[in-house]
Amino acid sequence: MKNIVILISGRGSNMQSIVRCIEEQAWPARVAAVISNKADAAGLAFASEHGIASAVVSNKDFPDRASFDLALQQAIDAYMPDLVVLAGFMRILTPGFVDHFAGRLLNIHPSLLPSFPGLHTHERALEAGVKFHGATVHFVTADLDHGPIVEQAVVPVLPDDTEETLSARVLKEEHVIYPRAVRLFVEGRLRILGNRVDVLPECAQQTEKVQA
Ligand code: GRF
Repeated sequence: MKNIVILISGRGSNMQSIVRCIEEQAWPARVAAVISNKADAAGLAFASEHGIASAVVSNKDFPDRASFDLALQQAIDAYMPDLVVLAGFMRILTPGFVDHFAGRLLNIHPSLLPSFPGLHTHERALEAGVKFHGATVHFVTADLDHGPIVEQAVVPVLPDDTEETLSARVLKEEHVIYPRAVRLFVEGRLRILGNRVDVLPECAQQTEKVQA
């Protein structure tokens, strides 16, 4: 059974999609805790309704980024996670934090990386006039919104799109690809090769297990 810790800052709809998939599909995984840097994050209520431990580590309680990240790291480590999932966690992380969780830290970003790293991705996609937009699940590296890509979803940009309609179309796909990526990790099917992630076929895993 793999332990997952999910970090949120707000609504937590991606966190909810992962929790629901685990509940419905009985993966060999449990969400050990949901941790927020904001006490009023709406997603915390969902976590407690689902019997998931939650904690708040507020960045406002720390004088600088390094001390906050260290406290956050310690709060996460208390749950002995195999995987840490950033789900709308609106903080830039220090290299020390990223190193500590290297290879077991996933993020979802609402664009087709490497296009549009950073904030306001939907607005920028509309401004740029791209015909396709989407979302990316990637392993986190010290380089913001970069890192080996696990999953991407593509959506069309329609002529009458607004930021709201486009972001809703992308979010729907986020709720598909993030649980899928987490499940692949939990099943041990992701291999990071430099900047690339290979997904091992299910049958290869079964063969490995038989041989083990
Ligand atoms: C999502 O669009 C995600 O891609 C981005 O922040 C948003 C979080 O939404 N990183 P939610 O809190 O998961 O509903």
